[in-house]
Amino acid sequence: MSILVTGGAGFIGSNLVIRWLESHSEPIVNLDKLTYAGNLASLASVAEHPRHHFARGDICDTELVGELLEKNRIRAIIHLAAESHVDRSIHGPEAFIHTNVTGTFRLLEAARRYWEALPAAEGQRFRFINVSTDEVFGSLGPDDPPFTEQSPYQPNSPYSASKAAADHLVRSYFHTYGMPVITTHCSNNYGPRQFPEKLIPVLVLNGSRGEQLPVYGDGGNIRDWLYVDDHCDALWQVLNKGTPGETYNIGGNCEMANLDLVHAVCEMMDEVRPGSRFVPHSQLIEFVADRPGHDRRYAIDASKMRQTLGWQPKEDFDSGIGKTVEWYLENSEWLEQVTSGEYRNWIQKNYGSRAQ
Ligand code: NAD
Ligand code: TYD
Repeated sequence: MSILVTGGAGFIGSNLVIRWLESHSEPIVNLDKLTYAGNLASLASVAEHPRHHFARGDICDTELVGELLEKNRIRAIIHLAAESHVDRSIHGPEAFIHTNVTGTFRLLEAARRYWEALPAAEGQRFRFINVSTDEVFGSLGPDDPPFTEQSPYQPNSPYSASKAAADHLVRSYFHTYGMPVITTHCSNNYGPRQFPEKLIPVLVLNGSRGEQLPVYGDGGNIRDWLYVDDHCDALWQVLNKGTPGETYNIGGNCEMANLDLVHAVCEMMDEVRPGSRFVPHSQLIEFVADRPGHDRRYAIDASKMRQTLGWQPKEDFDSGIGKTVEWYLENSEWLEQVTSGEYRNWIQKNYGSRAQ
């Protein structure tokens, strides 16, 4: 039997596919539409891998999903495919409804039909893992305790609202049909192969070119950062040891204000490229107009993952950010490939309107 990963050509998906193929023996079927955020360049190292089968397609295509499930005798779906960038959801929310809401619904329907026809033992073993975000819980005040699995849903952006809608649908398939689903809520990931529209790769790419390092608002917004491999390991534990119908919060226990993070990346770039004419890279920092509705603080209490599944992050921020900065600086070919085409238009659209 195989595992179906949706969105496996994106940031977390490509890291997960590569890591799981290295460390586990099950074949992986990788369904991805290859939007601007999905790149086969991210999967180059496993393109010929005998246990990796890539299928280009949309999770909204119920027929295609049904065929993939049947043909490959899928024992679990790891659902990562999504429109994932908050700023893009502000400029154009509709794509988020298409993929995150309708797409998750269609995937659930295809999965339900397949699961209902499985022999009892296989049906019990089947899992649908819905990879969600801490952003569905909204924004914390400075002294609030971190989000737990019981925190109320209070999404504030079209992105987080669409992910929240998907989470509710997933939950309903457990309560209504008894389908063995699990939802995870993870904090901000960082690491190799993240599309350079998200903060950390924007900083490294711009820093290496001597371009501005844009900080939204006052730079005081706080995120909890987790190295992507730790997220992939957490998802493996959830898949194999998690309880159907439950939710799990995954986080790095690493809260940082954006401005502190930007300085840490600058220092790492100074260290890795001491001969660069842009040292100190912090000279490139520029404060730009804030994101509308910008959530102030996210923080995750991951004690349930630790106590019930024995998971905790292996990477700390210093080691993780070092590896990450080096990866982007050493993989300029990957950056070239993914920043061709529409990329420049996006930069103009997002940052052009932020000039102060
Ligand atoms: P990403 O944007 O890098 O990748 C998304 C992938 O989904 C791309 O490969 C894209 O081509 C594919 N895709 C988009 N629409 C599709 C469709 N209709 N059908 C099939 N494939 C489609 O996103 P990411 O950062 O890797 O995030 C993966 C998942 O993890 C998302 O669900 C996101 O909400 C969640 N998440 C991300 C983070 C983070 O920090 N990146 C944190 C918590 C949760
Ligand atoms: P991002 O990587 O877009 O993740 P998310 O919005 O899902 O948390 O942004 C992380 C933080 O960095 C967020 O508070 C917005 C901020 N940010 C900037 O200050 N400048 C930038 O150019 C970007 C892309 C983000």
